[in-house]
Amino acid sequence: MKGLILSGGAGTRLRPITHTSAKQLVPIANQPILFYGIRDMADAGITDIGIVISPATGDEIRSAVGDGSDFGVTVTWIEQPEPLGLAHAVLVARPYLLDDEFVMYLGDNMLEQGLASFVERFDAARRHVPSPHGDETLVGAPSAQILLAKVNDPSSFGVADIDTEGRVIGLVEKPDDPPSDLALVGVYLFDASIHEAIENLQPSERGELEITDAIQALLNSGRVVHHEILSGWWIDTGKKDPLLECNRLVLDTIERRVEGAVDASSVVDGRVVIESGARVVNSTVRGPAIIGQDTVVEDAHVGPYSSIGRDCRIERSEVDNTVVLPGAVVSDIPRLTDSLIGRDTIIRRGNARSRAVRVMIGDNCHVEVE
Ligand code: DAU
Repeated sequence: MKGLILSGGAGTRLRPITHTSAKQLVPIANQPILFYGIRDMADAGITDIGIVISPATGDEIRSAVGDGSDFGVTVTWIEQPEPLGLAHAVLVARPYLLDDEFVMYLGDNMLEQGLASFVERFDAARRHVPSPHGDETLVGAPSAQILLAKVNDPSSFGVADIDTEGRVIGLVEKPDDPPSDLALVGVYLFDASIHEAIENLQPSERGELEITDAIQALLNSGRVVHHEILSGWWIDTGKKDPLLECNRLVLDTIERRVEGAVDASSVVDGRVVIESGARVVNSTVRGPAIIGQDTVVEDAHVGPYSSIGRDCRIERSEVDNTVVLPGAVVSDIPRLTDSLIGRDTIIRRGNARSRAVRVMIGDNCHVEVE
């Protein structure tokens, strides 16, 4: 089985962070989201992986992932000229996929459960379906398998309709009137029949070739689509708050590791990672938290659920429940909370007696000053 990770797209929802870099590289516990998907595939035994990239952010993704050897996988890069939809990405990947079965994974999604049991179930259902003739054939075997999760706001997702016998009978993308609260999670298994379904698709109202419509086309042609309800958490990280939540969930699983330097007047409490070259000076770091390589934390308090990237400076400030990307400086800020700070950003409090705020802020930013 091959793997296909979709890491193209426009990334409008995480602006301004994704003006300058790919949303799949935004870090969760200091690791790009995309890396978790690659590792999940490797853990499920899928080592031949195609990664779909866009012309805008492809180079950055390529250089972050390298040739895949760090993950024990081989990567084939597939450039999608325009973000014309998830099914379009499969169309562009056809020369790589050939007629092989594949698992498709959306590069901005993260799941707690690995992929192994999901893949094994599809495999078992396809290989061991007894045919009416007694021999082992693919009669009645699933052509696709989808992963579903109960959500509060199904209208923002692809939604599945399941009949009383537990069979998938319909799928609809971002419906105004959802048939259920079961959203499509960004992991799918397909056999080669998906390609024919995609060839006959028309663009949706949002102008994309929807994978949801392609799976509906499989159902319309009498093919079987299996589903599994997700266990554990799942997050579509395209927005700030889900991203911070995902960061909290992953930080909850980290093991304490202190490689950097912590001076005698500092306290490092609980499950904290201090990466090599980092320095904690006269400060408190309360876990779960991670301080990136070569970052300096001085006269500061880094509170729970913070991920501070590499080469940052946190001084005379208090930070909690926040993700700080590499190279940022937070200086003299009494409390920075629930925030996502972009690369090389500087947040500094000036003259404490003045009420003025001086900024140089990019497009589409959100700033709350209290
Ligand atoms: O997150 C789950 C949802 O993902 C599903 O419930 C929906 O059915 C499915 O359509 C998808 O919806 P989104 O609108 O959230 O997809 P998004 O545009 O965010 O793209 C998902 C990933 O695929 C992201 O990593 C970017 C990449 N992508 C997207 C498009 C449109 C591509 O590589 N190429 C594309 O053309």
